[in-house]
Amino acid sequence: MCGIVGAIADRDVVPVLIEGLKRLEYRGYDSAGIAVIDGRDVRRVRRTGRVAEMEAAAGQEGFNARLGVGHTRWATHGGVTEANAHPHISHGVALVHNGIIENHEEQRERLRQLGYEFESQTDTEVIAHLMHHYLKQGNDLLAALQRTVKELTGAYALAVVSRAEPERMVCARMGCPLLIGLGEGENFVASDVSAIIQATRQVIFLEEGDTAELTRTSVRVFDGDDQLVQREVHLSDVSLASLELGPYRHFMQKEIHEQPRAIADTIEATIDGGFLPTLFGANAEAVLKDVEGVQILACGTSYYAGMTARYWIEAIAGLPCSVEIASEYRYRAAYANPKHLIVTISQSGETLDTMEALKYAKSLGHQHTLSICNVPESAIPRASELVCYTRAGAEIGVASTKAFTTQLAALFQLTVVLGKLHGRISEEEEAGYLEELRFLPGSVQHALNLEPQIALWAERFAPKSDALFLGRGLHYPIALEGALKLKEISYIHAEAYPAGELKHGPLALVDADMPVVVIAPNDKLLEKVKSNMQEVRARGGELFVFTDQDSNFSESEGVHVIRTPRHAGVLSPIIHTIPVQLLAYHTALARGTDVDKPRNLAKSVTVE
Ligand code: F6R
Repeated sequence: MCGIVGAIADRDVVPVLIEGLKRLEYRGYDSAGIAVIDGRDVRRVRRTGRVAEMEAAAGQEGFNARLGVGHTRWATHGGVTEANAHPHISHGVALVHNGIIENHEEQRERLRQLGYEFESQTDTEVIAHLMHHYLKQGNDLLAALQRTVKELTGAYALAVVSRAEPERMVCARMGCPLLIGLGEGENFVASDVSAIIQATRQVIFLEEGDTAELTRTSVRVFDGDDQLVQREVHLSDVSLASLELGPYRHFMQKEIHEQPRAIADTIEATIDGGFLPTLFGANAEAVLKDVEGVQILACGTSYYAGMTARYWIEAIAGLPCSVEIASEYRYRAAYANPKHLIVTISQSGETLDTMEALKYAKSLGHQHTLSICNVPESAIPRASELVCYTRAGAEIGVASTKAFTTQLAALFQLTVVLGKLHGRISEEEEAGYLEELRFLPGSVQHALNLEPQIALWAERFAPKSDALFLGRGLHYPIALEGALKLKEISYIHAEAYPAGELKHGPLALVDADMPVVVIAPNDKLLEKVKSNMQEVRARGGELFVFTDQDSNFSESEGVHVIRTPRHAGVLSPIIHTIPVQLLAYHTALARGTDVDKPRNLAKSVTVE
């Protein structure tokens, strides 16, 4: 969704802003803009469409400045127009904003009465006018910002510059991430570390309610009471290589192939030291021992990771586990059992629905919360008691791939730790799980080697308009994930069902035109799945089956089979995710869609 970058330096900051915005493109946006302080003037360029178009316009205008802010906008209040794009300007004050101001209508009315005119339909423009209003009263830029944010209800990350104060930039955070990058004689602000990583690795993550003032050589941070505070400086481990495409055609393809490494990194501590509660935080042992059940909350792909975990947690840890889509949970009168651990799963750590569901769970009396997340210092883990960071590295493709499989790896570790702490797992079983984990990265690599075969299948999927995915038990969520991946990036309508449910309705859809993907590993449900496949074949449906090397399956007319490596036991859902990711990727490739930036979607969904 929206992205922010700002810079104050002793060099031209325009290339820094443009490069930063390009690195934020992956989040999803529909317009972009920059504003710079050039001498005693504010100059701005905004364009709908790609950053490259805005860059060309800035080049034509000969922008060159030592201070400026930039933004990628994903429309919420007001359509995709140049007038609604950021930065917004009021009498020489230019600002960029992520988030949503809930009381913008009330503020708009008040500002109108004060004589301000509005050029856009955005909630952001009220902030620009409020800033000017307080500057006019004699406040300096920082004080004006501190007065302004006290008038705002909602969520914001803000970066502000003014032609009246060309030697500084100010910023504020509430509910949306914002960080400061510390350079040598130059400083930066960004919503995401990838936007400034080319300039510096040293970052300060602002806390809720913070405001800050940046000059070229200094940074001062103030808390919500406007008191000067010290915030820790972190060294970001995001690498430039992780933000570059390298030899791959798309980030999604790169990220699919990074999974053996990402999973190995996520399970490293367990492989070295065993299943230890400390993986989830210093006081995790006491908390996890005390809980009597688990309630998982998440959205989209992360929700499917949660669905898979439910099978594990109930079967292995012997604890009751419910999984719910965060946007549903947050608005229903849920029955809360404070003895149940709330587990939120979010790749980005910013998803608004998941964040709000977490807050709601706490308001219902849940005391113990655990977050599984891929982005350090993001909002959801910060609001949680326990945290496990997956180590997938930056995920740029909008469709989640390595974040999903590393979430599964983290959830499996949580399952075994819970099982141990609740006395449900013998030493022998624990050793067996460790052995399975040890094999996991290698088995994922083997599954990746199936890419050429899967690419051939994809050619047959490309002309289709619908597809059905089937799975049972642990692999039903993987069927859901396969269908989601296919619809997201190839725009083919795809549905997933538990295979046993076919005869209760969806079988009516099956004909010779409907490809049916079946995830059929060599587990105790295989014979059941085979019967369900017969139901499809008898109606002329064409089957595309992913099974294991060691399962007794043969190809026949209308039944195509691809075999993943030997059956991976309880970790089989992770292995069987790889082929469905590759199928979606190659189908999208064959259809020529924008794989990394599918239409209408954004990487982190910070709106309802
Ligand atoms: C699908 C996808 C989305 C996200 C969902 C939740 O490929 O990426 O369905 O899984 O928007 O996002 P996070 O995990 O960031 O909370």
